[in-house]
Amino acid sequence: MRHYAHAMASSNSSDSSAPADVPAPYGSGPAQGGPAASARKPAKVRIHHLQQAKDAGTKFAMLTAYEQYTAEIFDAAGIEVLLVGDSASNNVFGNETSLPVTVDELLPLCRAVARSAKRALVVADLPFGSYEVSPEQAVAAGVRFLKEGLAHAVKIEGGKYYAPTVRAMVQAGIPVMAHIGFTPQSEHALGGYRVQGRGDDAQRLIDDAVALAEAGAFSVLMEMVPAETAAAVDAAVTVPTVGIGAGKETTGQVLVWQDMAGLRGGRMAKFVKQYADLRTTLLDAATAYGEDVRSGQFPGPEHSF
Ligand code: KIV
Repeated sequence: MRHYAHAMASSNSSDSSAPADVPAPYGSGPAQGGPAASARKPAKVRIHHLQQAKDAGTKFAMLTAYEQYTAEIFDAAGIEVLLVGDSASNNVFGNETSLPVTVDELLPLCRAVARSAKRALVVADLPFGSYEVSPEQAVAAGVRFLKEGLAHAVKIEGGKYYAPTVRAMVQAGIPVMAHIGFTPQSEHALGGYRVQGRGDDAQRLIDDAVALAEAGAFSVLMEMVPAETAAAVDAAVTVPTVGIGAGKETTGQVLVWQDMAGLRGGRMAKFVKQYADLRTTLLDAATAYGEDVRSGQFPGPEHSF
């Protein structure tokens, strides 16, 4: 099994460094059409917009994206944050887990997403093996994602042990999202896909989140955490939280796009909601195309020069 939308305040903010309301998604309000639309540049989502969402008690949406067209589409749909996840390992590269994917494999995907999204904040995962050794190693990997991958921020997995790493990265100018709870890169250490932070273990996650936020993480993502624990973590930190299988009290929600849109086959995790059945749509389209080619129906005169 592998993994796995919004009441935002609207504003006229353009890409300014001055804090403003979280910009309205494309498709909402006058930004989409009408006389004002052409005069207005689409606003960019910045980390302070996510903070404003938390402060205002509103929500934002995050999806994974790994290439040009999905990045364009999700951006146009108003998804505020695009994650170039290390889940590319098992959703793009055909691996069983997220562990084998490398920095060099993720960088071109990240570049494609960052070039294609006009508005969304692009966050890149630092893959397994690229940041654990030392804060220096993490800074070096983070710099590559911002410089070569054109990411706006990075995400790392792990608890309070990584607070010095987060501090070093933030001091180097790299915005960091912290990922706690179930951390897929530690799948083997955690004994598989298991809910984290149940019962007395909740305090561990609260301590992790507080330490990582104090170290400068701009957001804390929680995966596979009981809703009650996630709510307690969210209440313990001032930064925005993001959940995947963590109930509804987090500021944001994230899903792997192939799960959200029904491209991936097989059993879905409990926390996945499927909004489309792209697997069937593509299967039907490819089957019809194959049949048309074999029967001589395609190409027709209208497709020929
Ligand atoms: O890589 C990933 O997809 C993630 C999840 C939070 C969705 O880290």
